[in-house]
Amino acid sequence: MSKVLITGGAGFIGSHIVNLLVKQGNFEIRILDNFSTQIHGDDYKASFLYNAVLDKAELFIGDIRNQEDVLNSLIGVDQIIHLAAETGTGQSMYSLNNYTDVNIMGLSTIFEVILKYKIPIKKIILASSRAVYGEGLKTCPHHGIVSPKQRKEDDMILKDFENHCPICNAILSSALTTESCQTNPISYYAYTKLAQEKMIETLCPINGIDYTIFRYYNVYGAGQSLNNPYTGIVSIFSKLLLQDKTINVFEDGLESRDFVHVEDVAEITCKALTELKSNTQIINVGSGTSISVLQVAETLKSIYGSHSLINISGDFRKGDIRHNTADISLLKEIFNHRPHISFEQGLNDLATWVLDEVKTNPEILLTQGYEQSIDELKEANMIFQAKKEILHD
Ligand SMILES: NC(=O)c1ccc[n+]([C@@H]2O[C@H](COP(=O)([O-])OP(=O)(O)OC[C@H]3O[C@@H](n4cnc5c(N)ncnc54)[C@H](O)[C@@H]3O)[C@@H](O)[C@H]2O)c1
Ligand SMILES: [Zn+2]
Repeated sequence: MSKVLITGGAGFIGSHIVNLLVKQGNFEIRILDNFSTQIHGDDYKASFLYNAVLDKAELFIGDIRNQEDVLNSLIGVDQIIHLAAETGTGQSMYSLNNYTDVNIMGLSTIFEVILKYKIPIKKIILASSRAVYGEGLKTCPHHGIVSPKQRKEDDMILKDFENHCPICNAILSSALTTESCQTNPISYYAYTKLAQEKMIETLCPINGIDYTIFRYYNVYGAGQSLNNPYTGIVSIFSKLLLQDKTINVFEDGLESRDFVHVEDVAEITCKALTELKSNTQIINVGSGTSISVLQVAETLKSIYGSHSLINISGDFRKGDIRHNTADISLLKEIFNHRPHISFEQGLNDLATWVLDEVKTNPEILLTQGYEQSIDELKEANMIFQAKKEILHD
């Protein structure tokens, strides 16, 4: 039986992939994961994610930056799903070396070991991100489809948050972003993801290794780290709502994200292990629709029956994008599949899981980590704070 190594296989997306592969029963599965404290907490053995993969796969605890760990985990492996990474957009803007180290050096270490020890890897599947597009494609009323650069801070201070046409400065409306959109990273995280893509595109063909690059959009669902205060608005909002704490919604709340359920992401990623048509492709993995951040906060508030204030603050975070919705034509064409879990159903399932987690470990609700992450961003001058006004309760 063919063997797959999943780096970061004990993470949020990885744990779903592992469980799906176990169910399908066509592969032997190995995980290489260092159980980073930011994701798994101080006692990883007590974490939901550890228990979700325990006994499901061969578990190698080690670091993708360590050649010995990588070599041990690669022996006998045919394909790699590379997920291990640092994933916080905001955090990446002031922890540059750490993001370089894990995301870029980590992958180059994997290649170095494959080449040095002539490990016959057939295929590498990379979890890249929609972040590589920056703002993505938009429609100008005068110029049609355009690809705007990062928004100007001066506009955003005046609460003009929408994208403007690079040619005529008109306000742009959203368009679906295709894989051929020019890449334009506006966070250091995005830059490291693009570097991973380029490394794969450079090194795989020369060495006879097939590859698929997935650009995941905003993945959400059960297992999303409730420890990591640096990513995932759905889990951050959940924690605040369950304690009736105020949610600070950035910008005017109308910024939107394309949320795709983790089970859909796992299903598509696993298909790439066998689908030859996915070789040498870069493929968007989103739902093809977008939801505003305010809508996420309000929907979750009603699911939890919370009394939190939803404060649309006009604050903004440098490195954030306004909207980016995936064009999923290629995804449908290659895999004959489109994500099918609706956001409403997905959020309800997630809330049930969060409530369960809180019951077994009430400490998970502590939000000091989140508050600290915001302080770090302020300290690094990455957050602009506007005068506060409360619009919803
Ligand atoms: N979750 C999303 O919305 C999303 C969106 C786009 C792309 N992605 C990409 O998908 C991949 C998986 O994301 P996720 O949400 O499951 O993240 P996650 O943080 O839940 O999982 C990452 C896993 O990698 C492990 N890890 C981190 N550094 C490591 C190292 N140096 N050596 C070994 N293991 C290490 C962590 O312990 C964790 O278990 C990442 O590459 C991420 O950039 C995720
Ligand atoms: Zn224009």
